[in-house]
Amino acid sequence: MMGAATVFICTFMCAVCLPVGAAVSNDDYRFVMWTDETLDGNTTMSNTLIVQGENLTVYCWLTDPTNDTLATRQALFDTYIALNQAPSLTIYNRTWSQTFHFPSTNESKSWELTIPTTEFSHQDKTPTEQWRVSLALGHRNFLTQGSLLLVQREPILHWLLGDRLPAPPVLWEKETDQLVITKSPCSPDVAVLGVAENNFTSAGVILGVTYHHFRENYTTWFNMTQNPSLCNITTDCSLLRLVDFLLTNRHLLLLTNQGLYVSSDLIGWDSLAQVQFLSTSINSLMSAVFQAGNVSRANTRLWNTPECESVTPGYTPADHVIITHHPPVGSEINNTSYYSTAPYTTWETLAPNSGAAVVSAAYDIQKDNFVILKQTQDGPRVTVVSRTGGGGQLYPPAEFPPSFTPSGLAFHPVNHFLYAYGSQVFVSLDGGSSFDPILSLPVGQSVSSFDADVHHGTVAMVTGEGDIFYGTADDHAQ
Ligand SMILES: *[C@@H]1O[C@H](CO)[C@@H](O)[C@H](O)[C@H]1NC(C)=O
Ligand SMILES: *[C@@H]1O[C@H](CO)[C@@H](O)[C@H](O)[C@H]1NC(C)=O
Ligand SMILES: *[C@@H]1O[C@H](CO)[C@@H](O)[C@H](O)[C@H]1NC(C)=O
Ligand SMILES: *[C@@H]1O[C@H](CO)[C@@H](O)[C@H](O)[C@H]1NC(C)=O
Ligand SMILES: *[C@@H]1O[C@H](CO)[C@@H](O)[C@H](O)[C@H]1NC(C)=O
Ligand SMILES: *[C@@H]1O[C@H](CO)[C@@H](O)[C@H](O)[C@H]1NC(C)=O
Ligand SMILES: *[C@@H]1O[C@H](CO)[C@@H](O)[C@H](O)[C@H]1NC(C)=O
Ligand SMILES: *[C@@H]1O[C@H](CO)[C@@H](O)[C@H](O)[C@H]1NC(C)=O
Ligand SMILES: *[C@@H]1O[C@H](CO)[C@@H](O)[C@H](O)[C@H]1NC(C)=O
Ligand SMILES: *[C@@H]1O[C@H](CO)[C@@H](O)[C@H](O)[C@H]1NC(C)=O
Ligand SMILES: *[C@@H]1O[C@H](CO)[C@@H](O)[C@H](O)[C@H]1NC(C)=O
Ligand SMILES: *[C@@H]1O[C@H](CO)[C@@H](O)[C@H](O)[C@H]1NC(C)=O
Repeated sequence: MMGAATVFICTFMCAVCLPVGAAVSNDDYRFVMWTDETLDGNTTMSNTLIVQGENLTVYCWLTDPTNDTLATRQALFDTYIALNQAPSLTIYNRTWSQTFHFPSTNESKSWELTIPTTEFSHQDKTPTEQWRVSLALGHRNFLTQGSLLLVQREPILHWLLGDRLPAPPVLWEKETDQLVITKSPCSPDVAVLGVAENNFTSAGVILGVTYHHFRENYTTWFNMTQNPSLCNITTDCSLLRLVDFLLTNRHLLLLTNQGLYVSSDLIGWDSLAQVQFLSTSINSLMSAVFQAGNVSRANTRLWNTPECESVTPGYTPADHVIITHHPPVGSEINNTSYYSTAPYTTWETLAPNSGAAVVSAAYDIQKDNFVILKQTQDGPRVTVVSRTGGGGQLYPPAEFPPSFTPSGLAFHPVNHFLYAYGSQVFVSLDGGSSFDPILSLPVGQSVSSFDADVHHGTVAMVTGEGDIFYGTADDHAQ
């Protein structure tokens, strides 16, 4: 059971992060690279360099993908050693780049290079965008790309969310459409996973935090029911269920059937302290909705547009989070959506009542607008409102065919393309004023989650049935 589920997650995460090593060279050979923190070392092809502490020690082999054995790796190594050629490692991000050279040596079994982490990182605890790396060798320029994760710069990895579970729990039997994954806005390798509305674990609310594709030994599982700020003698937690959650630069937000909980600022980590959650009231209307037991994943969601804090120096993003709730048909309550910014203590009304269910909403970082996806009697509509402009619509609403059953709206964090997804997928290149269809799914299928690869402009969309569709900015989905 767990096996199948784990395979699904790996597939999903690889899809999401994309096999960076594979998207590389026109040439015959490519590198495999690893660090001491990569537990399966030279057998992995994921090319994620995980670094913890003072020094980064990188190892690499050149491999022949058509015939990759230890013997062929060794032969390639010996060949280039004999030619006195060694690879170079370039560490870069969108504003900075530096190249380091591996020593030519024939003493170790692979190329090996140690760099103090101060060569590429400040000594502080603020989040920083994950670096990229590339390895190159010689005039034929065998080029392989990967990513570099400095563990001490990712706040979520330094907290206990609840009690640590000694072993990975069995979270669900076979259904995976309730799987929720939220990635760090800075490091796509870092993510939090949980199962929403989980009936399978009478075992409480369980979350996993990973820094490498949810693989064992890179993932810590927590029993949130054991976190006293979320569950204590004043609250009955036997009925607590996760509905949705989000990781922003500095906070983890948990939407549960009993209320919204916001973590304390994650930046100030010291050494594995238990994170504190604060129960946060949105307004009296939503409090009544929670109290009536009317919050479920089918009607209430959290939305954000991830933006890594370090991208614009000197500017801390407000990290807008939106909550949408659509009440049962015929109920007195107006369709509602609210937004807030870090630290999420006060919430504003996002969309004035319009008698239409708000399915999803997204914050446009570039234009400071909100884009709202509604289900109206005439079919789905997208409206764009300025955050500061008192809620007036900026364009005539974009209309979709009534056959489109929407489930979400998301900006690509790099190219700012806006995707509306559900039983079909549409893209907008102008921030929501107009949309073009890019994908129709087989009848009965629907995209239930969306993810963007921040390094390639690629998107991955997962259907409720577990099928994955990829697309890039150029060819859209296929
Ligand atoms: C992962 O952890 C388990 C137990 O904690 C250990 O037995 C196993 O060797 C580890 N795997 C690797 C690749 O280090
Ligand atoms: C890497 O390759 C060597 C052979 O050169 C092998 O002995 C070793 O077990 C492999 N695995 C790791 C994790 O280094
Ligand atoms: C890091 O490298 C420096 C210089 O090579 C060395 O002096 C230091 O002991 C290393 N630190 C650790 C923790 O290995
Ligand atoms: C793979 O490489 C080994 C060692 O270089 C060689 O003996 C073998 O014939 C190669 N296999 C193929 C299919 O090319
Ligand atoms: C490689 O090894 C040979 C003998 O084993 C030695 O003479 C030579 O200096 C070494 N080359 C390097 C670059 O370490
Ligand atoms: C890129 O890395 C450099 C060196 O650590 C750092 O100063 C800069 O802030 C980083 N840029 C971004 C956009 O994170
Ligand atoms: C849990 O039960 C509720 C109500 O029966 C259902 O809507 C939900 O999908 C179930 N969750 C899972 C993960 O099976
Ligand atoms: C999590 O904690 C709750 C409450 O103490 C407990 O009932 C449950 O068994 C725990 N779950 C796991 C998987 O340990
Ligand atoms: C117990 O939970 C409530 C509601 O979540 C919270 O207000 C209170 O601070 C918690 N008590 C402790 C000791 O954490
Ligand atoms: C809760 O849902 C019921 C029916 O589903 C509805 O009648 C009631 O008005 C709702 N109450 C609140 C506060 O959402
Ligand atoms: C719902 O919206 C209408 C018109 O916008 C307003 O008059 C009414 O007071 C709202 N109801 C609630 C419960 O907020
Ligand atoms: C909320 O939206 C639904 C679906 O469009 C509609 O049927 C219902 O009347 C709306 N409720 C209110 C109070 O506006």
